[in-house]
Amino acid sequence: MSSPSLYCHDEQAIAGVEKLRFFPLAVESGRGCVLVEPGGRELLDFSASWTASGMGHGHPDIVSAVSKAIATAPGASILSMTHPDGVALAEQLLALVPSRPSLDGPRRVYLGHAGSDANDVALRGCRHATGRSGVIAFQGGYHGGLGIAQGVSGIHVDSGSPADPHVTFAPYPASYQPHTGDAATVVPETLRRVRLALAARTIAAVIVEPLQSDGGLLVPPPGFLEGLRQLCDEYGSYLIFDEVKVGLGRTGFLHAFEHDGVVPDIITLGKALGGGRPLSAAIGPAAVLDHPTASALMTTVGNPVSCAAGRAVLELLEEGEPVRNAAERGKQLSGLLHAYACAPVRPGSAHVGDVRGRGLSIGVEIVKSRDGKMPDDKLTAKTAFRAWELGLVAYPVRGNVLELTPPLTVSELEIERGVELLTRAIDDAALGVVSDAAIEPYSGW
Ligand SMILES: Cc1ncc(COP(=O)(O)O)c(C=O)c1O
Repeated sequence: MSSPSLYCHDEQAIAGVEKLRFFPLAVESGRGCVLVEPGGRELLDFSASWTASGMGHGHPDIVSAVSKAIATAPGASILSMTHPDGVALAEQLLALVPSRPSLDGPRRVYLGHAGSDANDVALRGCRHATGRSGVIAFQGGYHGGLGIAQGVSGIHVDSGSPADPHVTFAPYPASYQPHTGDAATVVPETLRRVRLALAARTIAAVIVEPLQSDGGLLVPPPGFLEGLRQLCDEYGSYLIFDEVKVGLGRTGFLHAFEHDGVVPDIITLGKALGGGRPLSAAIGPAAVLDHPTASALMTTVGNPVSCAAGRAVLELLEEGEPVRNAAERGKQLSGLLHAYACAPVRPGSAHVGDVRGRGLSIGVEIVKSRDGKMPDDKLTAKTAFRAWELGLVAYPVRGNVLELTPPLTVSELEIERGVELLTRAIDDAALGVVSDAAIEPYSGW
């Protein structure tokens, strides 16, 4: 079946509620950083399926672990039995995630399917453990598409369910366009608002991304995460770091929070953890994750095939090379993009307002012009569409930021090639090569 034909069948068969589309990408196979369309056209993948294919497509170690597990799978879950890969994965996670020195009592690992349920379970555990119902989250944050995790997401997906009345949203401090209008005051002002909400002592947890992704690749300014840590300690609330998207090596450290030297009470992981298979985890105090027993039931949690994939991913990360590569290739990627932004002869460069991020979590902010910093959502959508036409996959977030998150295994040459394609796409979009009609069918977020 050709690529357009496959896409047409998809439109007729697959539910719109689970689609986030920006161009008619149809894929038959993948290897490393490359996706292959029906018909054989190869595309460089600078999204890694929103980071879920963090080790690249079809990594041989993951293929081998999954193949072995599927051939000998001991049942389908850890719900009413245990199995070696589930236990070993949980123990590996406990060893890899540092504990807070002040934590008294043991920690546990919740094994789930997706970032959404890991966050949901962590949040309801905090509510149960504290007897408080309030949650502080951040505007532009994304924590999931279900239940409480959806309710605390600052990016509101219109699911038709009522807003969670117990959530307070604070602005996430940004350096490029601080909500206070001044980068010097943005952290103290944000922390002042968080303190105000915590002071009522009704807050069970503060949930935050240590690099806000879907909200526009916002790097936390110095002192922000540390301030949250101190406030949570002062008011007896749990601090959850949602590292579903930016954890596990992506930022050039194993954990994104290492950049700021702040350890949360609970960390949630997902996406890359399963090496492309559905798998997530919440790691935190037993007081939060043990009770009430049997309150977070899903039949295939701790699925042995997903757990085997997770173990293979962690082994690759423990060996260190993907994390080192993320740091180095990230420097290369942002260096090349900064050079493009400063190249006056390129037709699109004036539309690059900012290039930011950590490691291989890079955002390119597309603006109408640099002076006014006015977001240009349409140009961003056209750039992503044009990039796909040229052979690069990258998606927009928050309307006008192109998110670049290639697999951690990306090579130097692939980064060069990806930047060549992306900058040509920005140039072409700025020159009007993409019509409004071309992007109209893809509603995006
Ligand atoms: C930071 C963050 N948390 C949680 C989620 C939800 O993860 P999932 O889509 O696997 O449920 C996402 C997904 O984009 C995310 O980016």
